[in-house]
Amino acid sequence: PSYTAVVPAAGIGSRMAADRPKQYLPLGDSTVLEHTLLGLLKHDTIGTIVVAIAEHDAWFNNLAIARHPRIITVSGGKERADSVLNALQQVATEWVLVHDAARPCLHPADLAAVMVAGQQAQGAILACRVRDTMKRGNGLGAIASSVPREELWHALTPQCFATTTLRQALTDALACGASITDEASAMEWAGFNPALVEGRADNIKITRPEDLALAQFFLKQTVD
Ligand code: CTP
Ligand code: MG
Repeated sequence: PSYTAVVPAAGIGSRMAADRPKQYLPLGDSTVLEHTLLGLLKHDTIGTIVVAIAEHDAWFNNLAIARHPRIITVSGGKERADSVLNALQQVATEWVLVHDAARPCLHPADLAAVMVAGQQAQGAILACRVRDTMKRGNGLGAIASSVPREELWHALTPQCFATTTLRQALTDALACGASITDEASAMEWAGFNPALVEGRADNIKITRPEDLALAQFFLKQTVD
C-alpha cells in the first residue's frame, strides 16, 4: 500500500455539546468514528490508519474497530494541527491522506479522486463550491463588498500530500505560529498550491446536533 491515512480524532466537540466527544456519538448501527474509519478501510491502497486520540480518551478502546490490524493510535495535541503532526511521525509511506474523524459520509469515488490528484500536483484537497452570494463584512455589521463566488470553495477532507513535504510544512508553520486549520493551509504557508478536487457536498463535518440526522440521511442515500 502506498498511502497511510491520518485521522485526527482528539477533539472534544464543544459545539456539539453532547455527553461525549462527537466522534463517539451513535450513528446508524455504530458510531461516527467507525463510519469514518470503515470508509477508509474499504480502500485497499490505504495500508495503515493512524488515529490521533485525546490523551485521556475513555472511548476509543471500547470500539470493536480499535483492535483492527490496520489501525494504530497516537496521542492528539492541543489543536487539530498538533494532532495531525503527532500522527505524521508514524507515517512511513510516500503519500498520506488526512481525514477528519467527524466526516463519516465520504463517498468512495471522492476518496479515489483526491488520492489520484494528490500524487500529481502539489497535493490536493476535496472541496465544494459555495452556493450563496458571498459578502465581506466591514466589522461594523454592514457589508463592505461582495466577494466573487466563482473563486470560493469550502475546504473538505480528505487532503492528500507527499508525507515528507506535509510534515515539514506543518512543523515549520506551527513553529512560526501560523494559523493552520487544515493541511492545505500549511502547504500554502510553505509556498505550494494544492489542487482543488470538486467533491460531494454531502461530505459534511458533524459539528452541531442537527448534523447527525443529516449524516444519517446521507449515509442511507449512498449507493456506490
Ligand atoms: N481534532 C483533533 N485534535 C484537536 C482538535 C480537533 O484531532 N486538538 C479533530 C476532531 O476530533 C475532528 C477534527 O479534528 O475530527 C475537526 O475538528 P472539529 O470539527 O473542530 O472538532 P472539535 O474540535 O472536536 O469540535 P469543536 O471545535 O466544536 O470543539
Ligand atoms: Mg475544533
